[in-house]
Amino acid sequence: MDFVAVFLVGLLLFHLSAIAQSYQNVSLGSSLTTSDVTTFWPSPSGFQRIGNGSGFLLAIWFNNITEKTIVWSANRNSLAPDGSKVQLSTNGRLVLTDPNGREMWARPTAIAELAYGAMLDNGNFVLATSSSATAWQSFNKPTDTILPGQVLNLDSSLVSSFSDTNSSIGRFKFILQTDGNLVLYKVNYPAVDVTDAYWVTSSVGSGYQVIFNQSGYIFLQDKNGTLLNLISSNVENLTSQSMYHRAILEYDGVFRHYVYPKSSSGRRMEWSTLYNVPEKYPYAIAQDRGGGALWFHDLCSMGTDRRQDVIVHSDIS
Ligand SMILES: *[C@@H]1O[C@H](CO)[C@@H](O)[C@H](O)[C@H]1NC(C)=O
Ligand SMILES: *[C@@H]1O[C@H](CO)[C@@H](O)[C@H](O)[C@H]1NC(C)=O
Ligand SMILES: *[C@@H]1O[C@H](CO)[C@@H](O)[C@H](O)[C@H]1NC(C)=O
Ligand SMILES: *[C@@H]1O[C@H](CO)[C@@H](O)[C@H](O)[C@H]1NC(C)=O
Ligand SMILES: *[C@@H]1O[C@H](CO)[C@@H](O)[C@H](O)[C@H]1NC(C)=O
Ligand SMILES: *[C@@H]1O[C@H](CO)[C@@H](O)[C@H](O)[C@H]1NC(C)=O
Repeated sequence: MDFVAVFLVGLLLFHLSAIAQSYQNVSLGSSLTTSDVTTFWPSPSGFQRIGNGSGFLLAIWFNNITEKTIVWSANRNSLAPDGSKVQLSTNGRLVLTDPNGREMWARPTAIAELAYGAMLDNGNFVLATSSSATAWQSFNKPTDTILPGQVLNLDSSLVSSFSDTNSSIGRFKFILQTDGNLVLYKVNYPAVDVTDAYWVTSSVGSGYQVIFNQSGYIFLQDKNGTLLNLISSNVENLTSQSMYHRAILEYDGVFRHYVYPKSSSGRRMEWSTLYNVPEKYPYAIAQDRGGGALWFHDLCSMGTDRRQDVIVHSDIS
């Protein structure tokens, strides 16, 4: 029997206050805890961190819009229990600890000469030294999303989430390989090795950086800055002055470039797809049917983007 997937109860609940505060540094020693979700480290216009649900995800999301859209998370594979805490320690690390004080996640991995942390307005959380050199930044460790101003260097990748409501690593990978080729792969879940490539730029030897620029174009360029492959062309010219932009490798294996108007001015306020890669829907993902098992079913050439009504074959086992 086929049925249309319905997403179960959302996993993550978020603190919903939309607060525009001025940019401020996060000083060493400051912390956030799960028991006080009204505390966060804000950027001037849109990002804050920490969440709540059946566990806590230390995350950065767009704060100035109704949907608390996550763009980055620290502990995507193991949610932090209630009573956890994230602290910018006095010895120079950003540390997430569980209620027993056990370290769950920390960056940088080694002690650095940190002076402060800052949630920047482009969505990048940076840890900086006293000379303002960046010791660590979330933009260099993307999860499944990139934002304007962000660059993927060789050997950087995006890994999709497991499902719409589960941010654990999923079944697809978008990687700029060390050989310069930019590839979308199916991951041999639950193992992490990649299997089939379903989209490639064939840029071995020349691909160097994937850039998401402020005009909302996403492209692959070579070392000399020559454009090799336009991944998302912003034909509508929706700049990051007027629109929030994000590009995400979603759980269904499609890399989508979304925009959201910064001011309503008559538009419907929701994320809309500007571009998706590949253009043909590569796979259909079956949803959790309650027993915990998730089934994966290949359906080639399903046609154009059909994320809203993913067809699930409930009789595959
Ligand atoms: C953040 O701290 C750095 C280093 O102390 C300083 O240069 C910068 O002006 C501070 N920024 C803000 C907004 O306080
Ligand atoms: C937040 O969004 C509103 C429109 O919904 C806009 O008027 C306001 O300037 C935004 N705030 C910031 C800090 O960008
Ligand atoms: C956080 O999550 C817990 C467990 O789901 C819930 O009991 C609590 O009310 C939540 N807190 C807030 C502020 O949403
Ligand atoms: C998310 O999915 C993974 C993989 O099946 C599973 O191990 C994990 O328990 C799920 N997390 C939640 C909170 O359901
Ligand atoms: C972004 O890239 C596009 C395509 O290469 C280019 O036309 C545009 O000028 C770039 N914008 C910025 C701000 O660099
Ligand atoms: C970069 O430019 C130099 C000089 O113009 C040229 O020799 C080289 O082949 C170029 N490299 C790439 C990867 O395009």
